[in-house]
Order: sequence, then C-alpha cells, then structure tokens
Amino acid sequence: MSNLFEPYQIRDLLVRDRFMRSATTSAYADEKGIVNDTIIKHYERMSRGEVGLIVKGHLYIMDNGKAHKGMAGISHDEHIPMLKKLTDAVHKHDGHIVAQINHAGVTYQPDRAGPSNYSEEDWTAREMSTDEIEAIIEGFGDAAERAIQAGFDGVQIHGAHGYLISQFLSRDVNKRNDKWGGNLKKRMRLALDVYDEVRGRIGNDPVLIKLNSDDFSPNGFTVEDAIQVAKALSEKGIDLIEISGGGRGRKPELRERARHPDHPEADFAGHAEKIRKAIKPTPMALVSGFKTLAAMEKAVEEDLTDMVSLSRPFIREPGLVANLKKDQKEATCIRCDACRANFGVAMMQCLLE
Ligand SMILES: Cc1cc2nc3c(=O)[nH]c(=O)nc-3n(C[C@H](O)[C@H](O)[C@H](O)COP(=O)(O)O)c2cc1C
Repeated sequence: MSNLFEPYQIRDLLVRDRFMRSATTSAYADEKGIVNDTIIKHYERMSRGEVGLIVKGHLYIMDNGKAHKGMAGISHDEHIPMLKKLTDAVHKHDGHIVAQINHAGVTYQPDRAGPSNYSEEDWTAREMSTDEIEAIIEGFGDAAERAIQAGFDGVQIHGAHGYLISQFLSRDVNKRNDKWGGNLKKRMRLALDVYDEVRGRIGNDPVLIKLNSDDFSPNGFTVEDAIQVAKALSEKGIDLIEISGGGRGRKPELRERARHPDHPEADFAGHAEKIRKAIKPTPMALVSGFKTLAAMEKAVEEDLTDMVSLSRPFIREPGLVANLKKDQKEATCIRCDACRANFGVAMMQCLLE
C-alpha cells in the first residue's frame, strides 16, 4: 500500500494519512453565522471516513468580511460553542481539523471594499483605508485565537479564489501606491502581515495557507508571482501551502496553462511542480481535479505534492478515504458542479443519483 495511507507530520501535528479535505463551505449556517447539527454531522462522517486533515469551510473573521449568505463565522465569541461541538465530532474519530479564516474584501455586500476602487460588470467597490487594513490584520489574529479556543488543530489563511488576500496579490485588482500595493513585494505584504499576526497569536499551532498558483486572469496574479509569495511564506516558517487557482477576472480557457502532461487529473499540477521546487521542504498540498486513487498515488510517489486535497468528492462520499483504502479505485463524483451551482443557497449536497 502506498504512503498515501500513512501518517504525515505537519509541525507537531501527526495526521493519520495524506488526504486533505479542502475547505468547502456549506452555506447552511444561520443568519448569525452559527453552524448547525446538519453541518456537524457531515464533518463527523468525513472524520469517521478517515480523512487525515479536514479544512473547515471558510469562516468570516469580521462581520464585514462575509462572502455569502449562510457562510459560517468566527468573528465573535458566540461562534465558539457550536464550532467546538464540530471539532469534538471530528476528534472523536481521530481526525484533525483546521479552520479556514477569510475576509471577502470586494465580495462583501453592501459595503464592498478592497485594495483599490474596483468594478466588475454590475457593481463597484471602494478602496480600503490603512486603518481598515490594519483592523483586518488584527481580525485575522482574533479569529485564529478563537479557532484554537474552539478546538481546531490550527488555521488555514484563505489566500486564494479572489477574496481579500488574493485581491491584494493581484496587480489587476490592487492599484494602490502605498506600502500595500505597487510591486509584488508590496502586494504580498498583507499576506505576510496576516501570517505574522496569526503566528504571533497561536504560537506553535499549525498555520497553513491556501494560495493561488495563478488567478487565470489576463493581467492578474501569475505562477511567477505565486512562486515568490510561496517562497516568502516558506522562509517565514508557514507549515503547509495548499496550491489552488482562480481569482478575480478569471478566464476558464487560461486554466490550461497550469496543466502537467504527466498528471492530467490534477488541474494545477504544472504550476504546482514549479512552486514545489521553490519551497521544498515546506509541506505542500495540491487541490482540484483528483479522482482516481492511481493519480493521487502517483502525485505523492513522484513527489509532486505531500498531500492530496479534494473538495467535491467528499460532498458526495464523506467516507471516500476509508473506501479507497479498502477496494474502491476512484471517487464517484463527476464534478458536475451542481453542488455549487446555486452559490450561497444550498451546497452541501450531491444532486447526482
Ligand atoms: C460547494 C463548494 C464550496 C467551496 N467552498 C470553499 C471554501 O469555503 N474555501 C475554499 O478555499 N474553497 C472552497 N471551494 C473550492 C474547493 O475547496 C476546491 O478548491 C475546488 O472545489 C477544487 O477541488 P475539487 O476538484 O476536489 O472539488 C468550494 C467548492 C465547492 C464545490
């Protein structure tokens, strides 16, 4: 049996295998951002199903950082008790779980604010003040502390998918000319400052980040940028970088540039290989597209990545890892995307018969 099913060390945390459940929001939280028993049951099922490291769907760090209706929060102490119930349910079955902490930036409504004045089709966002940026950095720190109080084994900073940190990283969205924008060094400052703040608050507990390898926009954040950001985070001591892709202004056809001929299942394998070389030995996970056990084994055996990360397959099969360990050869999810077609309304359900 391959080492996919053997334990893997992330800082002082020994996770039972190399499968990661990538953050997947359910949009089932109540209007105060509090999770419920339906969500908790899903997490418990995944842990019983032997996922090594679960990343909780993104949690807003401040009330003005909420990305969509039904998103769960970690902006107030009142969020802690139900999150504690959720982490207890995961730990009961020997799983581990980190909290993905996020700020929506220009996605938050109605007061859309981001690095710079910005518009997309039918909406506009205003530029944030320095005071607002500093409050957000502190907000990430407060959220990280609450995550540990709620029993999470660490945190994952959401630095991908067009939310605030990825907005700052994009040269297309971030047009500032103060210390937060301009060249890449300045555009990555928010990511690095958030990392320092979170590390300062939670000490030796694992701090991870989900980072775009490319935002697939014509003039945004490229793999060359991603290599520099990943390197800087790695030099600071980040515990794991999960490689993803897709930010503001993305064009689906540009995703082709991230592919790898030897790893056709994993959407961002070509970019991941380049980032991997630049950051080794910092632990890395790779998400998007994995379906067959053979492709996941190959990715780990050939050292493309340390962990394989999946999202949609666990919506359909929370027990997937245990089944792959027995005799199942591949996930039955066909990535039809019905689970996210109605973003912010009803996600945590597979609509496939
Ligand atoms: C319903 C749904 C919710 C998601 N929520 C999040 C989220 O909260 N945070 C995040 O970083 N990515 C989120 N994603 C993206 C996934 O984590 C993952 O990066 C993407 O689906 C590709 O992986 P896959 O091919 O294994 O599904 C979500 C995806 C889906 C389908």
